[in-house]
This record gives sequence, structure tokens and C-alpha cells, in this order.
Amino acid sequence: MCGIVGYLGNKQAYPILIKGLKRLEYRGYDSAGVAILNNGINLYKCKGKVADLEELTKDKDTEGHIGIGHTRWATHGLPNDVNAHPHYSDSSSIVMIHNGIIENYSPLRKTLEARGYKFRSETDSEVLINLIEEVQKQEKVSLAEAVRKALKEVVGAYAIVLFAKDSPDELIAAKKGSPLVIGVGENEFYLASDATPIIEYTRDVVYLEDEEIAVISKADGLNIINIKNQKITPYLQQLEMEIEELEKGGYDYFMLKEIFEQPRSIADSMRGRISLDKKIVSLGGIKNYEETLLKARRIIIIACGTSWHAGLVGEYLFEDLARIPVEVEYASEFRYRNPIIYEDDVVIAISQSGETADTLAAIELAKKRGATIIGICNVVGSSIARATHAGSYTHAGPEIGVASTKAFTAQVTLLTLMALSIGYKKETLPKQRYTQLVAELEQLPSKIVRALKLNDQIYKISELFYEASNFLYLGRGYSFPVALEGALKLKEISYIHAEGYPAAEMKHGPIALIDEQMPVVVVAPKASSYEKVVSNIQEVKARKGIVIAVVTEGDNVIKDIADHVIEVPEADEILMPIITSIPLQLLSYHIALLRGCNVDQPRNLAKSVTVE
Ligand code: G6P
Repeated sequence: MCGIVGYLGNKQAYPILIKGLKRLEYRGYDSAGVAILNNGINLYKCKGKVADLEELTKDKDTEGHIGIGHTRWATHGLPNDVNAHPHYSDSSSIVMIHNGIIENYSPLRKTLEARGYKFRSETDSEVLINLIEEVQKQEKVSLAEAVRKALKEVVGAYAIVLFAKDSPDELIAAKKGSPLVIGVGENEFYLASDATPIIEYTRDVVYLEDEEIAVISKADGLNIINIKNQKITPYLQQLEMEIEELEKGGYDYFMLKEIFEQPRSIADSMRGRISLDKKIVSLGGIKNYEETLLKARRIIIIACGTSWHAGLVGEYLFEDLARIPVEVEYASEFRYRNPIIYEDDVVIAISQSGETADTLAAIELAKKRGATIIGICNVVGSSIARATHAGSYTHAGPEIGVASTKAFTAQVTLLTLMALSIGYKKETLPKQRYTQLVAELEQLPSKIVRALKLNDQIYKISELFYEASNFLYLGRGYSFPVALEGALKLKEISYIHAEGYPAAEMKHGPIALIDEQMPVVVVAPKASSYEKVVSNIQEVKARKGIVIAVVTEGDNVIKDIADHVIEVPEADEILMPIITSIPLQLLSYHIALLRGCNVDQPRNLAKSVTVE
């Protein structure tokens, strides 16, 4: 959460910062600001989005070759002009941007106030910049050294970039817990929370590690030390992303583009992982840990949000195909309840961004207790990808819409590949079924193309229900996580209250909610519990609920009972979550738009949740 950017070089900093902030807006959009060095510091910030900041700076002096920028997701203090970043130090000689949380900000602030420091904002970040100023003043050290010493006193997470008007031509950056990437160009440097603001200028990047401090200057280039004052040799890596992936490409919203990209993103998740001739699934990234997986006593899947829903599908897959007991855990609960973790447990951590703070902390805990950690991440080089023992990337491409769509189906695709491969090698999955499933996997992209053709029909259904106040989503077996994800999607972007429930559990509570106003979305493809789901639909209809059913093409039974049917292509039951998710994504997209919501940047949400 919160996006940060920085630039030092010979170009004008302001346009680079603004463009970078727009790329990072998925991380928060409560307020935005920039500070630029030009014979003193010009600082502009305001409540609202980067577009509001542009409006504010329209007639202002934005000249300068060194600058920092920030887009905020509020933690400490309201989203207003004053709490927006960058923050000045008390004397106004240093400015800083921060992503993360300083947990011990309160005692630090009291100490600083006792020494006469005045605070302009309610933020924890302002405490840190003042602490840096105080250390520099007291110890008469360089700015970099003051940063290092101050960070030793800090508890919490941070990615910071700062500069001072008295040390021109120098940017200092540091990180712990929150991400920071440094793009290295010719005599110029780009800093950002992820690589998206950097890609069009350079492909050479350094991912700063925890407790490292980068000192960047025109004279000496990039130098890195750690908090113990040891010199670190920067490890230069090459970015593989393409700029087109970061643009809307003719679509009105990133979310729609990303929904429609799924035939490709799913194919990319499988590419190179299914051998064409032998139809064998093989995941290079986890090859060295395959034996561990085969012998695993248990799989613990940890994730948050949509990734947690993908994990639930994973539970069905691994138990069904590989006969390994699975527990799916919310990372935020898992890490705080002293969980029992065995050395022969395999933890699968799922994260689109690879930066979710709770997931990262849960990984560290499981690692300490000796478990093997396998990552499923979308963002290459992300913190989670680097913290795991091994892993596979989903290769869905950058996901910019805050509500996750293509990342979810890619995660489920990858979990399916893993479960198939392990099940086959463990011989819990008979060869014939394995071969049939692999062949069906290859047909998935074309089935997704067909599912996307339902867009117009789903728009028409959305027109009928966009004013509803509540929605219920039901599913059984493999369709239960799909129902949860469908409900989450609707909640996130349309602000309609929606609940996902196991269809059979409806009678234990949610059935009381059903009346003629209540749309009930039932995910009911042909699957093992199909007949039971048909009965559940009857129960809804008997109470006058309105049923929108997602069914397998040609299903005439449900067509006769439900009010609306959305027919998706047929596939084996284990692959249906990937297909049935598509109409639910489209349904929430259209409903949200009809309600006038910003589907790409829903209120209060952010995409990369780097706070706990
Ligand atoms: C946020 C996002 C969700 C995402 C969740 C977990 O809440 O808005 O879309 O599912 O974080 O994020 P991760 O990057 O770990 O998958």
C-alpha cells in the first residue's frame, strides 16, 4: 500500500514522477504529492488522486532533476492534504516519502516533541523524518548516516526515499518489509515500489533487500550499505515486462482488459509446463522440491483475499488428486495463533503482488519452524517470491485493476498443474484420468474465449439487478470457492453487500434472507453434487428468491427452474472453477459500472497490502 517513486538524473523529474505515480495508483489513491529539488524544495500535495495533484501543479514551478512522489493509502491519519506525502522535517530542510508503518511512532513522537519538534500531520512517517533530522543534528553526521542510525530505532515496515536541500544531488532510500526497486539508467536512477514506473526507461534494476540503504548521487552513482554499515554489492537484474502490458489497450478499464486477457494469461500460466508430445506436467521452479511435496505430511496454503479463494480451490485439488491433507489459512490469522507446523509440512504461499505483509510474515514464521515454502506469485522478483524456497510464477502479466481477475484464474491454473503433477507421481491419480485432464487443460483457453462471449447476456442481466442491496452466491464442492470469489468481487467494486456460502449451508441461516428482492447466484455446473444443487435452487425458488444460475451448456433442468441461466462450456469438474469464474467477474464489472463506481480503483481498497 502506498506507491513511492523517485528520480535523480538529467531529465525533468516531474513528468517521470507523475507517470510513475499513475502506474502505482493501484497501491492507494487517497492523496498524492511530489517534492522536487530546485534551489530549494518545491513540495505539492493534496487529497485525492494523481490527476488532482496534476491539477494543483498546473501553474506551479515543477522544474528540477531530483524528486520524489507518493500516492497514499491512509493508515495513520485521515486522507487529507496535511497527511499526504512527502513530509518535511521540522526545519523543512529534508523531505521524505514512506510506504509502511512505523509501529513505535508514539514514543518516538513524544520524545521528539519534548525536544521541541513540531508536527504538522498525524502520520507515523513524519515521526521518522524528524527522527532522522534529530540524529543528524545531534551526531553531526551525513544524511545517509543519520538515516542508518535513525532506522535502528524504528520498529515496523518502511520503504522510504528522501533528500535534503543541503545535500543536493543525493537521494537516500531504504527498505524493510515494503518493496523498493531501483532502476539504473545512464547517469540516472529511478526508484519505485515496483518496476512498472521504471520499465520504459531502463530494464536494469536492483531490488533493495530488507535493512539496506541506497545512497544515490550524481557524483558517485549507486552505493548500498546495510543497517550494520556493511557495504553491499548491488545485484543487477533484467526486467522482462512489456510496456503494452501496463496500458489499457483500447479497453475502458483495466479490469475489463484483464478479464478479456484470460485466454492468453491462462495459456501463459501453462506455457512450457505441459510437454507437447508426452503430455506431461512439469514445473521447473519447484522441481528440486518435488520429492518434499510427494512426501509432505500436509500442505498448508496461506494467502489473503482472492488468493485465499484460489487456495481453497487448491485444497479440493490436492486432496482429490494427490490425497495430501490440506489446510487453507488466512495468513493474518495463521501467524498470530501459534500454529502447529511440522518440518515435513509444505507451505504454499499464494500472492498476486508477492508483497502482502501478512502472507510474508506467515512465510517467515513457517520457515523458522522448518517447513518447506513454495510460492505462487504473479509479480516477478517480489518479496514473497524471494522469501520462499522455491516457486512458480503465474505469468498472468501485470494486473492493474484493484479487483483481482486474471491473477485468480492463473493461480487456480497453476494449483491444478501442481496437483496433477503430484497426484500422477504419487500414483493417486490414474494415468488415464491424468492424461485426460492434461488434454482438457490445453483446451481451457478456447473455452474461456467462449465464456467471454457471454458478456452481452451478462450485461443485460446486470441491468436487471444493479440496484439490489444484497446478493447471495452459492456453490458446492469446487464451485464453493467460486461462489466466495464471486461475492467478494461484487462487494469490492459495486459496494453491494454480497455473501458467498456453501449451497447446502444455506438452510442453516442465509435462507432467512431470501425473499422476492434477493438475487441468488448459484454456481451449478455439471459436477458430483449437481442434483443436490438443483434441490438447493428449488429451495430458493420456494421462497420466491430470484435465481441466476451459472450452468453447463445444454443444461435443461436448471433452465426450467432458474430465472436466468448463464451457460458456460463443459469441462471436467476440477477445471470448472476457472470457467465459472468468468461470468461472475463480468457480472460484478457491469453491475459496478451501472452503479457509477470506479471499477479499477474501488473506494478504500488497494492492491498491494503492505500493512498488517
Ligand atoms: C488486496 C487486493 C486483493 C488481493 C489481496 C491479496 O486485498 O485488493 O485483490 O486478493 O490483497 O493480495 P495478494 O497480492 O497477496 O494476492
